[in-house]
Amino acid sequence: MKVFVPTEHFSAVSKVIHIVSALAFIAALLIMLSPPEPESFGFGLHQSLGMLVLVLYAARIVWMNWAGKPKALGTKFEKFIAHMAHMALYGILIAMPLSGLLISLAKAKETVVFGTFAIPGFAERNSGLIEFSYQIHYFLEIVCYLLVAMHIAASFYHHFGLKDGTLNRMMGVYKDD
Ligand code: HEM
Ligand code: HEM
Repeated sequence: MKVFVPTEHFSAVSKVIHIVSALAFIAALLIMLSPPEPESFGFGLHQSLGMLVLVLYAARIVWMNWAGKPKALGTKFEKFIAHMAHMALYGILIAMPLSGLLISLAKAKETVVFGTFAIPGFAERNSGLIEFSYQIHYFLEIVCYLLVAMHIAASFYHHFGLKDGTLNRMMGVYKDD
């Protein structure tokens, strides 16, 4: 049940979650362009950024189901495409870190999040599960390059081409924020 009638633009909390998650997601991807050693600072940062994305977007999805979000803009077809693209992005934002975490758990290695706390790995190494979660993580990597590129291109097209305020309602600052 929605308890809040969505406004024309996203709430300040949604905007902060979106931008922090977007930057963390892209940074996690960039780090792996030249994969660091498994026990290195770079790899720990990759895992920590991924866990941040997972926690933030899980909270965002729960909150959105309760509080709703601004009405989509455009024609019926454009709304449908935007809805499908956003659903796919939500899926990636959850499944990418989850599959990564599963690799580390199955390797029986702990995941230290920003040097603050550790998520322990499983008691024993599970080769089948490692292979399975690797496949998902790698497959999603390819999908996410396409999706994120399309998403950013679409938001610029709305802003510079259609000039319909889509970018502002996610990135802009409003008096009632
Ligand atoms: C925003 C979320 C994440 C993104 C975008 C992401 C992206 C990637 C990419 C691009 C690779 C390299 C794949 C390749 O070599 O082609 C990778 C590998 C890996 N990631 Fe993630 N990842 C995320 C979250 C996580 C999390 C949360 C963990 C663990 C807690 C994790 C653990 C791993 C592991 C274990 C590997 C394999 C490294 C190796 O042995 O080659 N990832 N990830
Ligand atoms: C420079 C980078 C980015 C820009 C300019 C951008 C822009 C936008 C805009 C304008 C919206 C609102 C769309 C609407 O009004 O319907 C939006 C929503 C969204 N974006 Fe991005 N985005 C960026 C990066 C990313 C990245 C990297 C991800 C995830 C991997 C992402 C995930 C989402 C999701 C899931 C939504 C749906 C709204 C929500 O519930 O949070 N964005 N983005």
